[in-house]
Amino acid sequence: MRIDVITLFPGMFTGPLTESILQRARETRSDGTSLLDVHFHDLRQFGTGTYKQVDDRPYGGGAGMVLRADVVVKAIEKVTEEGRTEGIRDSDFGIRTSKLNTQHSKLKTPHRIYFSPRGKRLTQANVEKTAKRDWLILLCGHYEGIDQRIIDGGWIDEEISIGDYVLTGGELPAMVLIDAVARQIPGVLGKEESAQEESFSASLGRKKEYPHYTRPEEFRGMRVPDVLLSGHHKEIEKWRKEMSG
Ligand code: ADE
Repeated sequence: MRIDVITLFPGMFTGPLTESILQRARETRSDGTSLLDVHFHDLRQFGTGTYKQVDDRPYGGGAGMVLRADVVVKAIEKVTEEGRTEGIRDSDFGIRTSKLNTQHSKLKTPHRIYFSPRGKRLTQANVEKTAKRDWLILLCGHYEGIDQRIIDGGWIDEEISIGDYVLTGGELPAMVLIDAVARQIPGVLGKEESAQEESFSASLGRKKEYPHYTRPEEFRGMRVPDVLLSGHHKEIEKWRKEMSG
């Protein structure tokens, strides 16, 4: 999967994307492919005038600044054009057949997501659907938001919120989406980290996962539930179902 992130603060992504599972997913493997190919684009470079202005005061007055339609659309169009010519350096096919490893698949249509508290609430079902796409463009807003004409004019396919609270910008929501989506891509998680039977997965009926226990068997007077020590797989399964919810 290729992901292009348009942001005023690319530096915010260091850390979450350069550690652990996400870093591993982004690394180029011996066959020249990677599972997650993330590109950052500084919105400032598309700004207007000597000061590369990206925002302006809202019509009608009020607090805060609004990202300009001309600047944001220029960024989206340039990033789309670049992605089409560069194609997908990674390949989701890479892990399936060696024949396709060296074939750089062409990208046609990016799925363009804008993060805002006004958007549709992100769910695991939506994460799974998004993970099936081969190309995402993520637009991180700032200040009071973006000029509505960017959305109404058809440059955004989906407006997503990660919860009913207001953040300083779309960078953290973008990282949340990248993390949740990446772990659904086949090969990103090791066997040990499987995304099969986990909270909100279809196999658990979209419910929350059962609680977990490990050694020691007794901790400060609290014992691991007997059923988990019993070795009765049917009983354990039944208990886990009961404890999901
Ligand atoms: N930008 C600011 N707050 C947000 C939220 N809750 N979800 C998505 N994008 C945002």
